[in-house]
Amino acid sequence: MSNVKIKIENLYKIFGHNAKGLTSEVKEGLDKDELLAKHNHVLGLDNINIDIEEQSIQVIMGLSGSGKSTLIRHINRLIEPTEGVVMVDNQDVTKLNKNELLEFRRNRTGMVFQRFGLFPHQNIVDNVQLGLSIKGVDKSESNETAMFWIDKVGLNGFEYKFPNQLSGGMQQRVGLARALANDPDILLMDEAFSALDPLIRSDMQDQLLELQKNLKKTIVFITHDLDEALKLGDRIAILNGGKLVQDGKPEDILLSPADEYVTNFVKDVNRTKVLKIKTIMKDSIQSGSDCPKVAMDSNIESCLPLFLDGESVLSVTDDEKNIVGSVSREEVANILKRY
Ligand SMILES: Nc1ncnc2c1ncn2[C@@H]1O[C@H](COP(=O)(O)OP(=O)(O)O)[C@@H](O)[C@H]1O
Ligand SMILES: [Mg+2]
Repeated sequence: MSNVKIKIENLYKIFGHNAKGLTSEVKEGLDKDELLAKHNHVLGLDNINIDIEEQSIQVIMGLSGSGKSTLIRHINRLIEPTEGVVMVDNQDVTKLNKNELLEFRRNRTGMVFQRFGLFPHQNIVDNVQLGLSIKGVDKSESNETAMFWIDKVGLNGFEYKFPNQLSGGMQQRVGLARALANDPDILLMDEAFSALDPLIRSDMQDQLLELQKNLKKTIVFITHDLDEALKLGDRIAILNGGKLVQDGKPEDILLSPADEYVTNFVKDVNRTKVLKIKTIMKDSIQSGSDCPKVAMDSNIESCLPLFLDGESVLSVTDDEKNIVGSVSREEVANILKRY
């Protein structure tokens, strides 16, 4: 992996008064249900190891109660680990003293929550510049920054409205603008879009991807929605009962689910829409190459009509329309049949 921004190693979280005393049993294999039955403690995280690449979107998925929020809250140490290490830029967050931690949270991380967390009696500008004024940034400068981000998230004209005068989707944009105004390298988004209506939610996903093209933040994004995960994630990590059961690229998750739990997550996905030609193409180039061409970034769906028309092989092209490989009807049929 090129540049690891966040490195989590051997992380355990047990909720309960004797957490530390019970880690050895968990290490010996006691699972979440057993820990609860035997000791009345809750296993939040069970030996999590994950590297999160700089400037990527790392999605964390899993059923309710699987440990997603617990994990993301360790990154800015809103939760103290029972055991383990959380490195951000090679610095162990679990070792920061009180002031260092405060400084770290204020400057390095931004959080966006599902329920927006806006202040009802402050207008939108004041909500957005909150972090800056806490940091003591000069009023006119923080005002200017707030205006910039309000514009960026498409809320021009709403600067002096109050949160309850805005729809849910717009309030979430305020939450996002507030996090971005602080210019953290890391954005932590816990089910940030989950409360939104489907269309607005899809807009927000598009907007986040659009912003990310320039911002290049390291984003940890929690969702329990697979479509959202596939759309946003450079990688997707899947939690079950506090354990990390798989972490991979979207196509790894779709094509090689690690266990039955992951299989259940992905079984209803329309693979023809999600999988890109480049993930299934072969490097071999067709001789003659007079067969129809498809772009490597298009999805499988776009080439199905050509196969139905009787073609057996298609040439695959890159952005500059150079032929870089091929894809055969047989391979595509195999991928689709397998699931
Ligand atoms: N403060 C707490 N005290 C006791 N148990 C907790 C606490 N916070 C979370 N848990 C438990 O830890 C597990 C993981 O919770 P959470 O991380 O919130 O799951 P998710 O975000 O995936 O829904 C759940 O079983 C939850 O009940
Ligand atoms: Mg949660």
